[in-house]
Amino acid sequence: MTQPPKNFINPRGLHQFKSRTCSIVGVGSYVPSRILSNADLEKMVDTSDDWITSRTGIKERRIAAKHEHTSDLAAKAAQLAMQRAAVSPEQIDLIVVATITPDMPFPSTACIVQRKIGAARAVGFDIEAACSGFLFALEIGQNFITSHTFETVLVIGAEKLSTITDWKERNTCVLFGDGAGAAILRHRPNSRGLLTTCMGSDGNKADLISMPGGGSQSPASIHTVTSGMHYLRMNGKETYKNAVTAICSAANEALRRCQTDITRIKCIIPHQANGRIIEAVAERLGAKPEQVFINIEKYGNTSAASVAIAMDEASQSGRFKKGDLILLFAFGAGLTWAASVIEW
Ligand code: ACO
Repeated sequence: MTQPPKNFINPRGLHQFKSRTCSIVGVGSYVPSRILSNADLEKMVDTSDDWITSRTGIKERRIAAKHEHTSDLAAKAAQLAMQRAAVSPEQIDLIVVATITPDMPFPSTACIVQRKIGAARAVGFDIEAACSGFLFALEIGQNFITSHTFETVLVIGAEKLSTITDWKERNTCVLFGDGAGAAILRHRPNSRGLLTTCMGSDGNKADLISMPGGGSQSPASIHTVTSGMHYLRMNGKETYKNAVTAICSAANEALRRCQTDITRIKCIIPHQANGRIIEAVAERLGAKPEQVFINIEKYGNTSAASVAIAMDEASQSGRFKKGDLILLFAFGAGLTWAASVIEW
């Protein structure tokens, strides 16, 4: 443990100069009630339940109501996580929301969530790392806890992808859904908590998944709207190839840093983008199918919300208990990827 120099004055005026652990002390998730099944999609585009199921593992996804924004999904997931962690809104110091579908470009969705949950004391900001966003946000949150900057951090992954989905384009519209997941981070004595997160990006492959319209490069105009630039576009095949390699290397590095191996991982919680990607990664890592948590059939790919929702469902269904090691991994636009090892 690092010791403070003799006359050390902590510039933040907080506590002692000593690193500490950071644990997830409560999780929650929320998905909208409306279900869009593969059979429904068969009526909208030239696709079939058989194609979607065999290529992706998805059977249905949730679609938020018109009046239900990303911040509403996020706030509901957050309230459940706070309740389970026995944390009041006033105790939250920091809110980090990972999303590619913020309520609006600014203010941040985190600030809107702050208002909705009444976390009056908190600082809030968003991060954007697409499907890897929740893992990136966990790493950001844990740094604020281990550095003694904050005591209680709320990390949320939330998406309303239905608003950037081109419902006439079968290559993408069958893949995505809406939802949110949240975690409360705190120091918990006698727990090692978040052990490591191995993160990566490759901006040379930024064009593989993007929504080109609406930013400073192509501000919203009649042209951007009529040419579909406000929809998510993806080169699925290339993304697929990159995903398996990047996830495996991040996961192996994360395990190596923790001086552990896949056999000691109680539960693997993958980003739910494609069942075949999950199976390929699990096989390459040498994991057994029973170690892997999959709920893609119910929700499809909910981007930044995906790992958070899966972690909540896996935890609620008793897939792991306090002290167990879990492995999270994700991959998405950027390209970005991450793998985390956590002692629950
Ligand atoms: N229904 C029926 N046929 C379809 C559909 C559909 N919904 N979509 C595509 N097809 C057709 C294609 O047109 C193509 O036909 P062709 O051979 O006549 O040209 C054929 O099916 C095969 O298409 P591919 O794109 O090669 O299919 P593939 O097996 O690669 O599966 C998929 C596509 C599911 C998108 C896969 O590539 C994938 O999962 N990629 C990775 C996605 C991912 O991980 N994204 C990261 C996160 S997203 C984010 O960050 C927001």
